[in-house]
Amino acid sequence: MTDTVASLMAEIADLGTDPRRGGYSRPVYSTAELDLRAWFVAHAERRGLDVETDRNGILWAWAGGVGEGAIVTGSHLDSVPGGGAYDGPLGVASALVAFDRLAESGVTGRRAIAVFPEEEGSRFGLACLGSRLLTGAIDADRVRALTDADGITFAEASRAAGVAPDHLGADPEALARIGTFIELHVEQGRGLADLERPIAVASSILGHGRWRISFTGEGNHAGTTLMGDRRDPMVAAAVLIAEVQRLGRRVPDARATVGRLVPTPGGTNVIASRVDLWLDVRHPDDVVTRYLVDEITAVAAAVARDQGCASAMTEESFSATVAFDPGLRDRLAGALDDAPVLGTGAGHDAGVLKEHVSTAMLFVRNPTGVSHAPGEAVEDGDAEAGARALATSIAELIGV
Ligand code: GLV
Ligand code: MN
Ligand code: MN
Repeated sequence: MTDTVASLMAEIADLGTDPRRGGYSRPVYSTAELDLRAWFVAHAERRGLDVETDRNGILWAWAGGVGEGAIVTGSHLDSVPGGGAYDGPLGVASALVAFDRLAESGVTGRRAIAVFPEEEGSRFGLACLGSRLLTGAIDADRVRALTDADGITFAEASRAAGVAPDHLGADPEALARIGTFIELHVEQGRGLADLERPIAVASSILGHGRWRISFTGEGNHAGTTLMGDRRDPMVAAAVLIAEVQRLGRRVPDARATVGRLVPTPGGTNVIASRVDLWLDVRHPDDVVTRYLVDEITAVAAAVARDQGCASAMTEESFSATVAFDPGLRDRLAGALDDAPVLGTGAGHDAGVLKEHVSTAMLFVRNPTGVSHAPGEAVEDGDAEAGARALATSIAELIGV
């Protein structure tokens, strides 16, 4: 195959573009994401790989025979709303090119590419659904009942995409096929740009979670309700957002973000009756994450009282801090010209899989350091270096 990572990325450059937000919006099982999955399947079949979709909607493409103990690489094709081109697809395109390089070198060991659905949790609210289902880290009934912004359940979306929802859930047989998992990903910060190096091996993932805070007040008329008579949850939300930033800044190494706010009913001349905020908190120490969320919960209750509103807090998900196996990490760094070792603040399917199988990650330099936004970038030369590093890593683990 003469494909390069850049040529593969160019093939999908028009899929899921979002003129309104900028960048790409590729929610799981949307037309854009299904087109990307079809693109991947076509490439895998052209290479003679054995392609299958498992009962959790994970795509697998096998070389060297389907079976246990494979070296598996891969990533995801869904995106955040208005995301960049590389978060997810870079790992998939690099995997295809790495498999080409391995085939050209006559490597025959068992290996597979896996593509996970709903890594971002952008459509159904919960990240890494494919890997959580595969490993049994989440209950299938809970996943089936999740709804998107239009009220479509995960079960309905899954069925429409051709994945029978009744069979979702822990799949120990599929999991046992993974000997080692290596995810290649665009770096989502400036670590490599600052080091002037193209590739890093991951050391850790920050513990992180998502919480939904709901403020309820009294819906009313924007013109006829006197300022002193209001119970306005939008005001409570505004005060809390500023507090989240203040509290987050006080804790070294913490990240605290409100990135989504949904007022009900959401009219310009309407005082909202309810506002939902989604809170994302991360810290290397899970105890500190919990402490910060507890503080924010207490502040939310106080802010609600001040505004004559009520507040409720729901934990949507929590992922503990991940430290990748130092032995595997250092072995890969050694095989990759003493690549630097970097931690990340972003979540990944690799973080979920790490609890069950030997797992590593590679990062490719991002000159802007921007991610989850259209400014995410990778230079062509670095993308090819990433695919070479992935092929070298797989060969190292296969033992050739
Ligand atoms: C996913 O990229 C996340 O870090 O939330
Ligand atoms: Mn990603
Ligand atoms: Mn992401």
